[in-house]
Amino acid sequence: MFTDESSCNSYNYGDAAYWDARYVQDAEMGNFDWYQRYSDLRPFVRMYIPSSSSRVLMIGCGNALMSEDMVKDGYEDIVNIDISSIVIDMMRRKCKYISQLKYMQMDVRDMSFFPDESFDSIIDKGTLDSLMCGNDAPISAAQMLGEVSRLLKPGGIYMMITYGDPNIRMPHLNRPAYNWQIVLYVIPRPGFEKTNGSSSLMRSPLEPVQLTVEGMIPPNFVMDDPDSHFIYVCKKMDETELSSLLSYSFNANLS
Ligand SMILES: C[S@@+](CC[C@H](N)C(=O)[O-])C[C@H]1O[C@@H](n2cnc3c(N)ncnc32)[C@H](O)[C@@H]1O
Repeated sequence: MFTDESSCNSYNYGDAAYWDARYVQDAEMGNFDWYQRYSDLRPFVRMYIPSSSSRVLMIGCGNALMSEDMVKDGYEDIVNIDISSIVIDMMRRKCKYISQLKYMQMDVRDMSFFPDESFDSIIDKGTLDSLMCGNDAPISAAQMLGEVSRLLKPGGIYMMITYGDPNIRMPHLNRPAYNWQIVLYVIPRPGFEKTNGSSSLMRSPLEPVQLTVEGMIPPNFVMDDPDSHFIYVCKKMDETELSSLLSYSFNANLS
C-alpha cells in the first residue's frame, strides 16, 4: 500500500514547474493515462454520471485520453483544466475539432473563474495525489476540495481516482462543510493477476466497500491487489437529503 510520502519520492508533483518540464520532455510520447484507462473506469462513470449531457469538469486533466474517450462514449460537455500551460496548449491543439471538449489553464485551488454550482460532476484522477506531494499539502487539499464543493450542483458527484486509501484520504474528504455522502470502491491495478494459492475470493470491483462508522475499510476486508486503486464517489447532498439527515440526527438525539 502507498502513503503520500512513499509515492511522492523526490518528485515535486505539487509544483507547476515540474509538470511543465515533464510535458515538454515527454512531448513525443503522446498521451498517458495515470492509474487507469477510461475502459476500466467506464462502469463507474456511467453509473454515477448517467446523463451524457451532464456538465463535467476534469481537474488536472494532463494529456490523458480519458476525456476524449468519454466523448467517444457520448458525453457532450467536458471542461478540462490543468495548472500546466504546456499541456493545455498541447491538448487544445490536439482536440481543436472536438467541440465537446474545452481546455483551460487553471489552478484547482482557485477556480473562481467558474460561478458556484457550475458542474454536475467533477473527475479527479491523480490530481489531489499530486497536491499531496507539494508544499503545504493539507492547505492545498482544503483549498482544492473547498473549490470542488463550491462548483458542484446539489446532487452532483465528485469522483476521485487515487492510490490513497481511506486512512490518508478520508480526513480530507469527510468534512461536514462539504456535505458529501461518500461511497468507496477498490479496484486492482490494470493487468493485476491473482497469484495461485491466494485464498481470498476475488470480489467484484463494482461492489462498494462497506465502510466503518469512522469511514475506514473494515479490518477483515481482503484487498486482492495490495497496490489497488481507490475510487471515492462523493455526492453533494441536496436540500431534501440534508433536511432528512438533520431530522434523523435530531430524532436520534431525542431518543
Ligand atoms: C498525476 S497527473 C494526472 C493526469 C491525468 N488526470 C491522468 O489521469 O492521467 C496530475 C495532473 O495534475 C496537474 N496538476 C498538479 N497540480 C495542479 C493544480 N494545482 N491545479 C491544476 N492541475 C494540477 C498536473 O499538471 C498533472 O497534469
